[in-house]
Amino acid sequence: MSEYKIENHTYDVVVVGAGGAGLRATFGMAVKGLSTACITKVFPTRSHTVAAQGGMSAALGNMGEDKWQWHMYDTVKGSDWLGDQDAIEYMCREAIPAVIELEHQGVPFSRTDDGRIYQRPFGGMTTDYGKGIAQRTCAAADRTGHAILHTLYQQSLRHSAEFYIEHFATDLILDEQGICRGVLAWDLATGTLRIFRAQTVVLATGGYGRAYFTATSAHTCTGDGNGMVTRAGLPLQDMEFTQFHPTGIYGAGCLITEGVRGEGGFLTNAKGERFMERYAPNAKDLASRDVVSRSMTIEVNEGRGVGEHKDHIHLHLEHLGPEVIHERLPGIAESARIFAGVDVTKEPIPVSPTVHYNMGGIPTNYHGEVVTLKDGNPDSVVPGLMAIGECACVSVHGANRLGSNSLLDIVVFGRAAANRCAETLKTGSIQPDLPKAGLEKAMDRFNRIHHAGGSLPTASIRDKMQRTMQKHAAVFRTGESLQAGVDQMNEVYASYRDVGVTDRSLVWNSDLMETFELANLLECAQTSIQSALNRKESRGAHAREDYPERDDQNWMKHTVSWLDEDGKVSLDYRPVHNYTLTDAVEYIPPKKRVY
Ligand code: FUM
Repeated sequence: MSEYKIENHTYDVVVVGAGGAGLRATFGMAVKGLSTACITKVFPTRSHTVAAQGGMSAALGNMGEDKWQWHMYDTVKGSDWLGDQDAIEYMCREAIPAVIELEHQGVPFSRTDDGRIYQRPFGGMTTDYGKGIAQRTCAAADRTGHAILHTLYQQSLRHSAEFYIEHFATDLILDEQGICRGVLAWDLATGTLRIFRAQTVVLATGGYGRAYFTATSAHTCTGDGNGMVTRAGLPLQDMEFTQFHPTGIYGAGCLITEGVRGEGGFLTNAKGERFMERYAPNAKDLASRDVVSRSMTIEVNEGRGVGEHKDHIHLHLEHLGPEVIHERLPGIAESARIFAGVDVTKEPIPVSPTVHYNMGGIPTNYHGEVVTLKDGNPDSVVPGLMAIGECACVSVHGANRLGSNSLLDIVVFGRAAANRCAETLKTGSIQPDLPKAGLEKAMDRFNRIHHAGGSLPTASIRDKMQRTMQKHAAVFRTGESLQAGVDQMNEVYASYRDVGVTDRSLVWNSDLMETFELANLLECAQTSIQSALNRKESRGAHAREDYPERDDQNWMKHTVSWLDEDGKVSLDYRPVHNYTLTDAVEYIPPKKRVY
């Protein structure tokens, strides 16, 4: 008899993750009459979306003329021409109804004097194809993610979605034909293992920022969906593209929103120079994040950093005055006081580029359906499996995401997934029994990790992985440093075979949960650093000092990576979608990216 208490559940749809993408999908599915469960390892309103500050982009034109076509142009340029233009068109066009719906659903956006949604400038967001600065980012002060998350959770409850809170999803259950039939989850409070059967499983598990030592990401951002997909033999895409946000609080890593610079804040070096004027003469501090993070790193590397170790930069907002700070940026004033001991009305905030976002992830089409990319075929959908939000790679962000396109992505593609399921699924359809082999595989793995009796503590393997990634897959990379990182990561990955879980309890066992999370992080880190070593050009967030130029002829293509059970990575490439979805816009051809 099994040592585990097991319960079985059947739904039309199971969503894994309750951040903005997961909740928008959950609520959207429930509204359409599909029986929907949402499995989440933290309480929904503690999901990482709660930390999103500055806002959500949409060309509403509330604060000056705007067009979604301009937004699309900025996003393609921001992506350094690695984004798929059909998906980008979809996102920028759908941004407008998606944000209006959020307003109607109850998101308390900040307001203009005449009562419209307030919109602020953000990096890389321009008018008229780069000529002016757009005010496109819809904000609820500097707590936009918090406002959106609470609204979507309330709407999900209102429409009777069912929540499995503090449940950790460990593995997908696929049948012999490669159809996803369900997912296994561990109830952290009771120790029960729950086997979910569903017509569709939607992964909305967020990013894997915690593969690095310092990140703005919550400790829960451990690439759980990416890990599940990898172990199911499916690929990940563009894993080498990790975004460094220019303004993490120095030392602590907490996010200071780009909205600060949108409201008029600026960066200075040790000489008090506004150095961004040199690197991005037009957009200055509002250039895209990859450009600003690289400029800050160059300033520090050339000896113009601030502080005792000359290793960071100053962000000023003293000149904005207490009124603007109080009304538009109250949260960051508090974060700066708590984490840097700074009164932002009087002194600058010490900041440095900090890991913030993963552009790569589970490849999908613009409906949110996961694709296998088998033989390079972009239409090879995995039946029964979707991925949305940061765990997915649609790809709308390409090599570099623009700030405020993330809240947009999660809402637009959460909504798209719900719409797709409403079109393709029949409420209450009879489902086949779960495949024996797929279920056994998931159960065996659970049992193996639960009883892992090796000599290495989870924390020590995690520490080595995080330090390796921080050092070798940094803002600037070289072949030599990446190769050293790959060699180290191979060792770290292999060392997981000797991991030891000290406590066999199944109730609130954080050591066991972190051991599951570590497996997911290792899978992400492995594919990420090897994809980075192989991409011999600089594009977006992937800046190779040994290949400083973008190389469209050889590298305007997506990296597709598979990982086998021994940690061996296989790489392939597929073309960027250089076509649009409709005739409303034309393909935007590549050109030199200057701000
Ligand atoms: O800077 C910020 O408020 C972060 C926004 C984003 O990553 O989209």
